[in-house]
Amino acid sequence: MGYKVAIAGATGVVGNEMRKILEQRNFPVDDLKLLASERSVGKKLLFKEREIEVEKLSKESFKGVDLALFSAGSRISLKYSPIAVNDGCIVIDNSSAFRMDDAVPLVVPEVNPDDLSWHKGIIANPNCSTIQLVVVLKPIHDRVKIKRLVISTYQAVSGTGKNAVEELKKQTEDIFNNKEIKSVVYPHQIAFNVLPQIDVFLDGDYTKEEIKMVNETRKILNDYQIKITATCVRVPVYISHSESVNVEIDRELSIEELRSLLDGSPGIKVIDEVKKSVYPTPTYTAGKDECFVGRIRKDDTVKYGYNLWIVSDNLRKGAALNAVQIGEEIIKKKLL
Ligand code: A2P
Repeated sequence: MGYKVAIAGATGVVGNEMRKILEQRNFPVDDLKLLASERSVGKKLLFKEREIEVEKLSKESFKGVDLALFSAGSRISLKYSPIAVNDGCIVIDNSSAFRMDDAVPLVVPEVNPDDLSWHKGIIANPNCSTIQLVVVLKPIHDRVKIKRLVISTYQAVSGTGKNAVEELKKQTEDIFNNKEIKSVVYPHQIAFNVLPQIDVFLDGDYTKEEIKMVNETRKILNDYQIKITATCVRVPVYISHSESVNVEIDRELSIEELRSLLDGSPGIKVIDEVKKSVYPTPTYTAGKDECFVGRIRKDDTVKYGYNLWIVSDNLRKGAALNAVQIGEEIIKKKLL
């Protein structure tokens, strides 16, 4: 017995990945609805060697659907998720619409699966840069207490969506062909450049992405005492976010202990042989499921400080895979 599943935003970079991951992981799907805007109606996408026609997302779309994965932006999630829930559907929402809502669990299955028990129809999928961070922090925070984090991210353009992927490609071609560069998605040229801005600026001159990282990390780890500061940067990479993370804990942990703690924990793979220049990179991690950690070393400028380099596929663990794993977990917990 399978489930009727819908993907809202099925033609987007994350929506496409959701469809592929449902198939790759053999998620129990009886029927799959692919929903997008009017622009995509009639487009055919493959699922288990069968072509499925994309339908226009509407108020009627969720009748008879058991599980809906949303990745069409906050506006669409705010409008259609309550309708889907009203129709008896469980929504796993990849947008930021409900993440900080106290009544909505924000879940990474390796970190806080038990928060699923109090869902009221909507479960929020965290921000991509937060997911790979908390997967790695969880075993450390369980063993010793994390006091402070200083994070710098290097985020791929696919995190912005398919228009951004196109913009990087087009600008790169135009540079080689000596054509004028146009920036529509980002405020500046992204090809061969680095932008210290992800999303809009808020109070205190932090960006919304940076504030999201702080708030979501605290909510998922259920610890509002951790001091966190972040600088989020967009880089001309298609897939995989990288993060330089400085961690301050409350007591000594040897590098060997830290390495074996991380290596043995769910969802993490340590790749750290610096003498051979072995460490995770975006091209290596793209298409893979784990959160990769390398450059594990001590920071001797504080009493118990460590530096980590964390890289993961932002479309998979950072978005679609985590959403599908939430689906698997709610089946396991008999919540669906
Ligand atoms: P479409 O391809 O028809 O525009 P991305 O995050 O890669 O930019 O993708 C966004 C996803 O959200 C796409 O599947 C897109 O569909 C979908 N989407 C955007 N606007 C709407 C809308 N008004 N109604 C339904 N789906 C939408």
